[in-house]
Amino acid sequence: MEFEKELESRIKYVEDVIRKYLPAEEGFQKSLLEAMNYSFLAGGKRLRPLLMLECCRMYGGDDRLVWPFMAAQEMIHTYSLVHDDLPAMDNDLYRRGKKTTHAVYGEAMAILAGDGLLNYAFETACGAFSMEGLSRQELERVCRAMKILTRKAGIYGMIGGQAVDVEAEKRKLRLDGEKLLFIHEHKTAALIQSAMMIGATLAGADEKAVRELERAGLAIGVAFQIQDDILDITGTLEELGKPVGSDEKNDKLTYVSVYGLEQSKRDVERLSKEALGILRDRPERNEFLEELVVSLITRRK
Ligand code: IPE
Ligand code: IPE
Ligand code: MG
Ligand code: MG
Ligand code: MG
Repeated sequence: MEFEKELESRIKYVEDVIRKYLPAEEGFQKSLLEAMNYSFLAGGKRLRPLLMLECCRMYGGDDRLVWPFMAAQEMIHTYSLVHDDLPAMDNDLYRRGKKTTHAVYGEAMAILAGDGLLNYAFETACGAFSMEGLSRQELERVCRAMKILTRKAGIYGMIGGQAVDVEAEKRKLRLDGEKLLFIHEHKTAALIQSAMMIGATLAGADEKAVRELERAGLAIGVAFQIQDDILDITGTLEELGKPVGSDEKNDKLTYVSVYGLEQSKRDVERLSKEALGILRDRPERNEFLEELVVSLITRRK
């Protein structure tokens, strides 16, 4: 209960921070900006910016430096969802409890809104370079954070995973555990790793610490996607804010289709505990972050 209240208040903080970075809805490209903000403001758990903030706090960093990156990370995540829902991809009509972007603004504008969010994410993160009063050391951290953000969102990260996810569908590539793990590690874990690594990097954590968070983020991310696959079967539209049965409709290669429901549940717990072990082994600790990881094991949305 205490954790729930704390979570609510920290999410509120995250929400207040990231909203400030949205573009104003004006000019001839107004509908594009509206479409971008529509999906961003529709809601969402804000897990990635929260993880970033908590990893920054874990290493005693200044919240301020991490703000533009929190917004950027959520923009990238949101764009990945806008494109993921397109007819050419998962073809889904609900997201975050509302009609998907393409359902409201049309396909062309949804593609552009996704492109816009991705590009504006980097523009936003670059804003950190011109923050006042940054030391040379802090500027170097911002450079490293940019590198993580670009890499994990790209062809060796999220986009790479989405590409294999698309190729794996409808081919009856059942029981292909290796490819499945690649998909989960890339399409989902990469952005979670990015968030955690950037938070620690900006706080001045050393390379070894960042590598450990990368390992923890991998386990958290894969567990998160397995649970997403589980909820696609056991959840409801009301709880999730997105349609259930999407994976079956698209004949997706999912964790549940390969290993079954019971094994999948066990693996969510195993991977989450693995991540927790990594976090607890660090000399720096963040109890709230640890509780957050535990809460993800039983999440219903
Ligand atoms: C959905 O992510 C896509 C996956 C990687 C499973 P979230 O479950 O974090 O979606 P929001 O941000 O809360 O809408
Ligand atoms: C998508 O995985 C992960 C992304 C990079 C967007 P899913 O296709 O399972 O995500 P949902 O279930 O639509 O949120
Ligand atoms: Mg998908
Ligand atoms: Mg989808
Ligand atoms: Mg899913």
